[in-house]
Amino acid sequence: MSDDGWLLDAGCGSGLLLSFLADRLTKDGRYLGMDILPAGLASLKPRANRLNLNGSVSGVQTDLSKDLPLADASVSCVAAHFSVYTLPEEKDRRQVYQEFWRVLKPRGLLVTANPTHFYNAEKIIRKSLESLNGKVSHPQRWFKKYVVYPLTLHLGLKHIEGQLKSGRWHGYRPEELHDEVAQVGFVIERSETVYGGSGCLVVGRKP
Ligand SMILES: C[S@@+](CC[C@H](N)C(=O)[O-])C[C@H]1O[C@@H](n2cnc3c(N)ncnc32)[C@H](O)[C@@H]1O
Repeated sequence: MSDDGWLLDAGCGSGLLLSFLADRLTKDGRYLGMDILPAGLASLKPRANRLNLNGSVSGVQTDLSKDLPLADASVSCVAAHFSVYTLPEEKDRRQVYQEFWRVLKPRGLLVTANPTHFYNAEKIIRKSLESLNGKVSHPQRWFKKYVVYPLTLHLGLKHIEGQLKSGRWHGYRPEELHDEVAQVGFVIERSETVYGGSGCLVVGRKP
């Protein structure tokens, strides 16, 4: 990022976040992706190549529910987008947030988003489609509507919805993510629902 620090993407998948951050990763900024599955990690370097971020990007296979392989106060920002909720036990999620706290530098930022227990896969797709209005060309919208979104819905989002309903993954109640993060000591700078109520987002700062 801008202060020559490391950004940790915890549960990075294939590193989608990189595409959003590419223009903000300065030549000194560094991105470290962690995920339990090697498949997503294998996509990090090719994605970084496409974005001309070669030297700035690395990945390491890690189980977030264990101690992170990082020194205390070594990263500037932790992003955890739709990853911590895969731990159904509160004590395990708390241990993850404590680890994020440990590895963050003072004034470091945690940005975390997880599904709510109102998670609705079809509504997410509807909202995404609405958000394209006026922003992409007609053929691009058609391609997203009839190819990309149906695949996303049936191969990804419906699976998440099923896991949440079964209780194997955790859907958050309103305020619950805020409290989990605040209890570790973070000062909450932002707490809101996102994705049409299907997600909750919390931004916390380590004092
Ligand atoms: C829904 S995907 C989100 C990926 C990415 N953050 C994104 O927003 O595109 C959840 C990711 O969390 C990872 N994950 C789940 N449990 C994990 C754990 N215990 N340790 C590390 N990664 C985990 C999964 O392998 C998967 O890549």
